[in-house]
Amino acid sequence: MKYVYVKSQGCDSNLYDSNRMKDLLEHHGYALTDVYTQADLIVINTCNIREKAADKVYSELGRYNIYKKKQRSEGKDVVIVVAGCVGQAEGALMRERAPHVDLVLGSQVYHKLPEMLERLKRDKAAEGEEEYRVNTHFPVEPKFDFLPEIKARQKGSACLAIQEGCDKFCTFCCVPYTRGPEYSRPVADLVKEARILVDQGVKELLLQGQNVSDYRGVAPSGRGSYSLAHLCLELANIQGLQRLRYSSSHPRDMTEDLARVHRDCSKVMPSLHLPVQSGSNSVLQRMNRKHTREEYLDIYAMFVEMQPDIKFSSDFIVGFPGETEKDFHDTLDLVHRVQFTRSYSFAYSKRPGTPAASEVLQVPEDVKKERLWQLQRTLDDYEALFNKSMVGRKVPVLFNKRGRKEGQLVGNSMYMQSVYVDAPSKLLGEIAPVALTHSGGHGMGGVIVG
Ligand code: SAM
Ligand code: SF4
Ligand code: F3S
Repeated sequence: MKYVYVKSQGCDSNLYDSNRMKDLLEHHGYALTDVYTQADLIVINTCNIREKAADKVYSELGRYNIYKKKQRSEGKDVVIVVAGCVGQAEGALMRERAPHVDLVLGSQVYHKLPEMLERLKRDKAAEGEEEYRVNTHFPVEPKFDFLPEIKARQKGSACLAIQEGCDKFCTFCCVPYTRGPEYSRPVADLVKEARILVDQGVKELLLQGQNVSDYRGVAPSGRGSYSLAHLCLELANIQGLQRLRYSSSHPRDMTEDLARVHRDCSKVMPSLHLPVQSGSNSVLQRMNRKHTREEYLDIYAMFVEMQPDIKFSSDFIVGFPGETEKDFHDTLDLVHRVQFTRSYSFAYSKRPGTPAASEVLQVPEDVKKERLWQLQRTLDDYEALFNKSMVGRKVPVLFNKRGRKEGQLVGNSMYMQSVYVDAPSKLLGEIAPVALTHSGGHGMGGVIVG
């Protein structure tokens, strides 16, 4: 039996892909292992979004190299594969920087992995033959058509990739280059995949992609296309599926139809992750976000009007080239207006080949650090305030994993808060009513109620 270790870094797109690579490799006879020191094959699915993320790949590869050398000294071969966004961005350069990497695969060709592994085995002697070791193509036929049946990796929640790539080209972002052009999967394929997951015990689907709000998948009839709102309504018909979420959306694509789905379809959760990046119109313009802060606030108002219970979460970048104190205060002001209940914020990181990387007016690192600290404190305060306001409420919680403490389970509320509860393991993968008793940091505690 050959063992494979799959390490996933980065966003939910990568998590979905990593799980699909597991499906593929199991289908080709590999057994999964949770520790790389047991593996014959190591696949690292990488993220290139910030410099730190890309650096992390090389430190991880350093560890694998030590293991590979040790195994070789005992006469065993370990194959190392780099997949995902760093593989896509660096291509052949990756093998120059880390020659112990055997294969490099871009984000859209991992279905070719078994074929490349076969070739590697066959042509092992042909060192120097590089072209089959690095594949960073964007093929015309989508990878999804070549993958085996999907397997639920846990009972509660699962990601469903409804869309790939990005055509928006924000000036700070590497994703359009690392994941290629936008592509929406056909509705019929998604309904089929969703049913398979639900039959395996999945209760909640996260419809996932870099721009899901721009989803335009071929309709089941083969004529015309469905929007995200329409897709949600179609998937909500699946018996046994209890919750739907979607992420990430782009403010440019948010429609009244989608807001209405939050009002009319109880399976669509009352939370919306809508990255804004900045609250300053001048920064938004230079980021090529193609919307203003006023338009963002209008979208917020429209969704709240349709579904008063809805809560917003977001992504922020501080220290984008040319960002002034005034720009930064506009971002803080937007945070005060929307009162996001959960957020991710980052200091701007130069990504090679993106337009913003060559801007002259880069913000000094210490200024970025100070602004990030201030923003995160403000965001944390709103999150804590919201969590506190939930204490005393009874809410349905979907339990996805075991907690660190013996007998503890961790689940998601409808607002994606992590809820920690002492509960029997039979509730893993189930939704149960929980009385929220306390809040702390980024999570909540509670007790199961009848
Ligand atoms: N497609 C989504 C969107 O439109 O925002 C998510 C894109 S990315 C996978 C996730 C987040 O990483 C972005 O929303 C942004 O806040 C952050 N990000 C992207 N590029 C960055 C950079 N160069 N420096 C710092 N943060 C970055
Ligand atoms: Fe990156 Fe912008 Fe595309 Fe999001 S919409 S993936 S931030 S280019
Ligand atoms: Fe990272 Fe690629 Fe996702 S760069 S955030 S893994 S799309």
